[in-house]
Amino acid sequence: MKNLIKIINESLDEYMPIIYPEEIFKAMKYTLMLPGKRLRPVMCLETARILGCDIKKVLPSACAIEMLHVQSLIHDDLPCMDNDDFRRGKPSNHKVFGEANAILAGDALLTFAPQLIIEKSTDLSATQIVRIIHEFTKFGGAYGLIAGQVVDIESEGGKLVKSPEETLDFIHLNKTAVLFRLAVRIGAIAAGADDSVTNEFDVFAKKFGLAFQIYDDIMDEISSFEELGKTTGKDKASGKLTYVSLYGLESAKKKFNYLINDCYDIIDKYNSEIFNEILDKLKTRIES
Ligand code: IPE
Ligand code: IPE
Ligand code: MG
Ligand code: MG
Ligand code: MG
Repeated sequence: MKNLIKIINESLDEYMPIIYPEEIFKAMKYTLMLPGKRLRPVMCLETARILGCDIKKVLPSACAIEMLHVQSLIHDDLPCMDNDDFRRGKPSNHKVFGEANAILAGDALLTFAPQLIIEKSTDLSATQIVRIIHEFTKFGGAYGLIAGQVVDIESEGGKLVKSPEETLDFIHLNKTAVLFRLAVRIGAIAAGADDSVTNEFDVFAKKFGLAFQIYDDIMDEISSFEELGKTTGKDKASGKLTYVSLYGLESAKKKFNYLINDCYDIIDKYNSEIFNEILDKLKTRIES
């Protein structure tokens, strides 16, 4: 895992220049290079490797997914969204570069990411690149991540169109699980996997993504700034619809465990040290 994170960090640094007008590139690179867990690019590379693909082929796409993720974090922290002053242990993007540049940095990361996939994926076929860009734009936009964020914000006011249970699953599957799905699906496309294998990884990522957002909801309640690098207790304060607020802490933990055990079962046959390490880390933390 450490080795993959090192490769990802070096590639992100290499792909992201600081050129004129420097302020925007600095803002883009600031949150990007802070020490995130890099779970999405790691999962993208590991899926490709498991399915027999040289990870170099998929490195630009893996980095592009991290850029999309970072865009979502920068915008998520804005005063008009979650109003968070800290991210990855440091002041949020808008606290350092101002709101206008933080919005523009998010927009620029979102558009730089597909540019990077197209320019740097020299070992993928044109058909593979078109498929990757299609999935990237679909999952990253109003059919995925943005839909989840919109309903997340809507839910703060308590005005729900669907039942709270349905609304919560919609939020978590869209704002969070879609990026994990995107990561493994791109790994599978790069490896030339067939639909049934791609679908197996997709189901894994859907369950993992849901578990991961439940984990994040639990951590917001029980963890500290020192551990997470972001302000805790914010979900409750802003009246967010979360697994903890709707079902309580113990039920949220149970649901998390149930989903993570499903993840172990699906991925077991691949003997992946990396996937096992990720699952173990989250599970151990919830049990502690
Ligand atoms: C934070 O994601 C946003 C959620 C989906 C909960 P991560 O917890 O993966 O954030 P970084 O990348 O490690 O900062
Ligand atoms: C994460 O939701 C979803 C994103 C797209 C950023 P949160 O709002 O709970 O994420 P954190 O807790 O701020 O990282
Ligand atoms: Mg949010
Ligand atoms: Mg937030
Ligand atoms: Mg959170």
